[in-house]
Amino acid sequence: MSNFTCKWQSPSNIAIVKYWGKYGNQLPRNGSISLTLRDAVSVTELTLLGKSTDEPIEVDFYFEGESKPEFAPKSIKLLKQMASEYTWIKDYRIKISSSNTFPHSSGIASSASGMSALSICVLDMDAILQGNSLQFNEETRRKASYYARLGSGSASRSLFAQIGQWGSLPDYSSTSDEHAVSWSANTHEVFKTYHDDILIVSKGEKSVSSSAGHGLMDASVFASARYQQANQRLVDLFGVLKSGDVDQFGRIAEDDALTLHGLMMCSEPSFTLLAPKSIEIINEIRHYRAKTGVPVYFTIDAGPNIHMLYPDAYADQVATWRDDVLRPLCADGQILTDQVGDGPVKLA
Ligand code: PMV
Repeated sequence: MSNFTCKWQSPSNIAIVKYWGKYGNQLPRNGSISLTLRDAVSVTELTLLGKSTDEPIEVDFYFEGESKPEFAPKSIKLLKQMASEYTWIKDYRIKISSSNTFPHSSGIASSASGMSALSICVLDMDAILQGNSLQFNEETRRKASYYARLGSGSASRSLFAQIGQWGSLPDYSSTSDEHAVSWSANTHEVFKTYHDDILIVSKGEKSVSSSAGHGLMDASVFASARYQQANQRLVDLFGVLKSGDVDQFGRIAEDDALTLHGLMMCSEPSFTLLAPKSIEIINEIRHYRAKTGVPVYFTIDAGPNIHMLYPDAYADQVATWRDDVLRPLCADGQILTDQVGDGPVKLA
């Protein structure tokens, strides 16, 4: 076994203003922002071994302890791009052992956590090869974010604690299309312990991948209005994040999630990822909020599962109602409870 090994965990994230539409090498058509999750993480270990073939990039991919060559292409694609800067990538057979804390069949995409974990492992390995250890600061997070973005756009935001923003906005000089940035310093404390309960409606594979969905935006008649709207929502959200207005936050989250799904339904060809149970859950959340005044709102990723968002102060109250009313609507009663977290952590 080689001495050159490192292990990181990196989280998934949930976007509040969504990235949907891209150009060039994984550059976003509009800005986006997400909460970094605490418990839904990928754990990735990178080990350098002796080359065994002439392949320029050689990867042995293990998922949850089992050899899974069919999972390797996404990592190979990213490593190929990273090899222009980290030329040692071509000198070794790279063993990637990965696992997720969330079930493989829970409908949660592992690309954000997986690609961010791999990028950070490569940066760390580069430091190890030079006899150092990685200084994990804003600069190296941005660099890892740059590479994570090449693997999966949303992965760019997973490098940052609590809240990550990606995509340049004219009046905000720190923002960039190339990498995400931390938005934590501009964010009220209430959002730093926010809850995201993921209500599992379906565990199946998505009928349309997010890359195909991004591609359909190119021909959408709504494209330019959407990009403008998303950037405006983002600017509005910046104010809300600062002030701590949880109702305004929730309204923007719901509007943007339904816009995302509306765009899918209006694509040519059109597609629907929401299921009847998704709509039932949405209606229950809205009904409970209207009845109680509890600021519980939802967002939705590119799939049928509903992410329920609420402040920590309401956790007990929400849990009772959630388990009574929402759990029976979920596939096998499955709910993944999560909260805002602190970003990637080095494990070894
Ligand atoms: O990172 P991708 O290419 O899987 O795209 C993610 C798109 C959404 O999850 C729907 C939105 C987002 O900003 O995370």
